[in-house]
Amino acid sequence: MTEAAQANAAAPAGAAPAPPCTLVIFGASGDLTKRLLMPALCNLTNEGLLDPGFRVLGVDAVEHDDAGFRSHLDDALRTIAVAPGAEGKVAEGTAWPWLAERIHYLSGDFGSPATYEAIGKAIERLSAVSSHKVVFYYATSPRFFGPITEQLHAAGLLDESADNWRRVIIEKPFGTDLESARALNARLLRVAEEHQLYRMDHFLGKETVQNIMVLRFANGLFEPLWNREHIEHVQITAAEAVTVEARGKFYDATGALRDMVPNHMFQLLAMMAMEAPNSFDADPIRTEKAKVIEAIRRYTPEEAVANAVRAQYGAGSVQGRKVDAYRSDPNVDPASKTETYVAMKFLIDNWRWSGVPFYVRTGKAMTTRSTEIAIQFKRAPAVLFRDARGELKPNVMVFRIQPNEGVSLRFAAKVPGRRVTLSDVDMDFRYSDYFRTEPSTGYETLIYDCLIGDNTLFQRADNVEAGWAAVQPMLDGWASGLGDVDTYDAGSAGPASADALLARDGFRWLPLD
Ligand code: BG6
Repeated sequence: MTEAAQANAAAPAGAAPAPPCTLVIFGASGDLTKRLLMPALCNLTNEGLLDPGFRVLGVDAVEHDDAGFRSHLDDALRTIAVAPGAEGKVAEGTAWPWLAERIHYLSGDFGSPATYEAIGKAIERLSAVSSHKVVFYYATSPRFFGPITEQLHAAGLLDESADNWRRVIIEKPFGTDLESARALNARLLRVAEEHQLYRMDHFLGKETVQNIMVLRFANGLFEPLWNREHIEHVQITAAEAVTVEARGKFYDATGALRDMVPNHMFQLLAMMAMEAPNSFDADPIRTEKAKVIEAIRRYTPEEAVANAVRAQYGAGSVQGRKVDAYRSDPNVDPASKTETYVAMKFLIDNWRWSGVPFYVRTGKAMTTRSTEIAIQFKRAPAVLFRDARGELKPNVMVFRIQPNEGVSLRFAAKVPGRRVTLSDVDMDFRYSDYFRTEPSTGYETLIYDCLIGDNTLFQRADNVEAGWAAVQPMLDGWASGLGDVDTYDAGSAGPASADALLARDGFRWLPLD
């Protein structure tokens, strides 16, 4: 694509290309860079959102020169384009050649000051076009987050001046519990300013997650019902059909709770339950999100374990594919007690939500992939329908985050005929019926937002800490030996104990379909 054509390529409504800058990727030869970052940069190029002065500097221990690194990415992008399930992640177009010539590489050890000296020189060289604006992206193992930041600081690479900003994108996991998250925040904030830190939670890059706020606050219809008077309970589900795949080593040290709950699941909960912010600016939104997560009831470890279920998948079959038990994965301890599924009941102790249970479940190797929020409203009084046939059921509103993105509302209708018979019907909105969506990895918005300095969709220090504080009692309870690890068949909807968790309160999980 020529530069002029690139600049003219269709950009999403109102979006201008980001200013010229250099994106320095630590961990450039790793999986994240080729699987998500490069496809996302290709898609941004196709959308005309990168400036001709945009440059990438990959940094990693692996030896490459610029040409070798480009060809490594080129191979990877070809594989990604044909990988099963990857369709649609990279838009058709001529973005890659345009991007490839802007990609450079530097081999170096993240622990050595010489690497940072070399990065400084490379930035100087590339800054002839990228004007000293730099984003450092940590696509590395979390143990490097602190040391890299300190080295960047020591080399003066985090110093900002007038127009020349320095920003840092930090991948998850951000800590492994409350104490380590606090310690990491303190360590980073000793050498960097909060406004420079962009803590990533890729769920916030999903259109459907962002749409929850629009649906709630741009419509007069829902907000009056959005409280304990009308809502009986909320179910938040992130079911995955995939197993732990090649990530057994990471996963066995992490588990479903740490991997998904204080970050992704709480993003969904916060979007659903937060108060209206004073404006759509970054800090008012992040403040409201922190407030609602901080209002989650702090259980004692005993209460936490009583309100949580953890389980591991056994052997089974997922969508016709045979799956071995979690413990027989070669990268997993055969006696592992790490959970691949978790279900929990949370209570939010604030005026709006007092007494409304929020049930959260997430797991691997389940029957299907489905991420959604289901809001169950209180039933209408049954007086008029005592003699009617059919059951009077509660209204349920479902936000389908993925797949089949959309929103549906279930209500009762009369079955045509001489007698009054009730039946459930669904009003269904599907994104694909109304909007044309560009292929996306979910990282495009987040990278673009960082390049333009908008940190609304990134986590502030207090957001991260509030999430960990809410799940810490579960971690403490389990660590002290309380609670069993149940099992569920791969390909099922989860363990029976998760059904019992809701049945105790008179509810049932919505079926996974
Ligand atoms: C990641 C977790 O953060 O999110 C993975 O580490 C999980 O275990 C993934 O599979 C889910 O994200 P998505 O976008 O595929 O729903």
